[in-house]
Amino acid sequence: MTSTKNTAHKAPPKMPGAIPIFGHMIDFGKNPFDYMMKLRAKLGEIGEFRMFHQEMVLLTGPEGNEAFFRAPDTQLDQNEAYKVMVPIFGKGVIFDAPPHIKDQQLKMLMPVLRDKPMRTYSKVIVQEVEEAIKDWGDSGEVDLLEFMKQLTIYTSSHCLLGDEFRYELNEEFSELYHALEKGMAPVAFIFPNLPIPVLRRRDKARVRLQELVTGIIEKRAKKTEKSDDAFQMLIETRYEDGSRLSPNEITGMLIGTLFAGHHTTSGTATWIALELARNPESYDEVLKEFDTLYGENGEVTFESLRTIPVFERVIKEVLRLHPPLIFLIRKVAKDLPFKDYLIKAGKYVCVSPRVSHRIPEIFPNPDKFDPGRFTEERQEDATPFSWVAFGGGRHKCSGNAFAMLQLKAIHAILLRRYKFELVDAPESYVDNYKEMVVQPNSPCRVRYTRRTDVESGKTNTESSAKTKADSSNSFKVDVDMDFCQGHANCMAEAAEIFKVDDKGKLTVLQDTPDNALLKKAQSAAKYCPTNAIKIIQK
Ligand code: F3S
Repeated sequence: MTSTKNTAHKAPPKMPGAIPIFGHMIDFGKNPFDYMMKLRAKLGEIGEFRMFHQEMVLLTGPEGNEAFFRAPDTQLDQNEAYKVMVPIFGKGVIFDAPPHIKDQQLKMLMPVLRDKPMRTYSKVIVQEVEEAIKDWGDSGEVDLLEFMKQLTIYTSSHCLLGDEFRYELNEEFSELYHALEKGMAPVAFIFPNLPIPVLRRRDKARVRLQELVTGIIEKRAKKTEKSDDAFQMLIETRYEDGSRLSPNEITGMLIGTLFAGHHTTSGTATWIALELARNPESYDEVLKEFDTLYGENGEVTFESLRTIPVFERVIKEVLRLHPPLIFLIRKVAKDLPFKDYLIKAGKYVCVSPRVSHRIPEIFPNPDKFDPGRFTEERQEDATPFSWVAFGGGRHKCSGNAFAMLQLKAIHAILLRRYKFELVDAPESYVDNYKEMVVQPNSPCRVRYTRRTDVESGKTNTESSAKTKADSSNSFKVDVDMDFCQGHANCMAEAAEIFKVDDKGKLTVLQDTPDNALLKKAQSAAKYCPTNAIKIIQK
């Protein structure tokens, strides 16, 4: 862990070139990624710049990331930095809730993203992908980003909001969701309640969505058969004092979950196909793996999606090169020491996964698409907090397992069924930095052709999940409780070792289990979405 000795006293070095009133805003706004790369090249792992009057400190590299992600909310305040979300999520929800309520609300979302509902989600995702491509025919051209945006709003809304929104209210819901998205306009970051049309539409959409949510809660209350979606879990959940979530809170938490996963997943799903199309060697390896696992007609299930090592490395490499959140921000509530420096309260501090992922000392030849970096032999991400596409520590994205499941399920169908090729010059597919969640530039045209070369193979997840045998009698289980968010995947994998109660509290039942449990423990570590578990072989 980064030293927080109180010898820290120096002010962070400043970027030159600030202009009156705007500071570095204009340079930053043109291309935030280029600007942050320049800052790191000039000043190193800590440097300060100015957006209007606001002083911002950028930390990059594993140690900077660790200082940022490990800091408690009382020191680095998320709420202040994300005020733009309050009119969208609602008053008193997540970023507008006092810390003890926000903690409970985030915990309530945990069961929604746990192992058990995930099995239901995988079926829903498969069904939605099949539906989306049913009229594709043998070949054609598609704007892949638009396709993925549509597909992932269907998959997410179906899994999380349930059948009513997916089937009965689909069109109205799409319009409302779109109006809320537009409400994240840049101006709203500074003036979240400016009376301009785009923000008025956002507010109207929020009110209407809550009406719809309230109607569904009332309708569901009369039914005897209960739904098994996230919506129902939020209806049934309780605060520590026994009170229920209000319709305002349920609406806000559902919107929050959708927002967190929608554009991030659609952009990544698109980049996966684009990068494979530009890198034929990796493409062939992925197809070989899918064909071996599923054959021509193998069923895509939660179990069969669990271990796909070649494709998992591709996802990881895509997220290294194109993390959808290129920077994350917090407001410094209490002075934050970092090495010899002190970042004073009142400033904003940010990290950039995208800049940290391009450090050549950690990821050699960083601009190259090379999924082999994550093999067991190379492990270029072995330094903690070097790969932070899902954030890290206590703030690691709790939806990352759901995101991975979606990406795998979508491509286990699409890539097996169709061969994708780029329509435009490969170098013309680039990221669009104008949006808050970075995605490829539109239009994102690809050609698809039905594959005729699908090898027949059998499902064989075991073959890719090799576990090293160990000759000693036991191994050690080490859990970083700072990272544990109560996902309970560990309990699903190894109930002999891990127990998680209804409130998400983890107990390690044996910290030096017998080697007979090694494979299960390794699976628990692998599927813990926050990487809280380490297995130490003696
Ligand atoms: Fe915690 Fe990870 Fe288990 S978050 S409950 S250690 S799956």
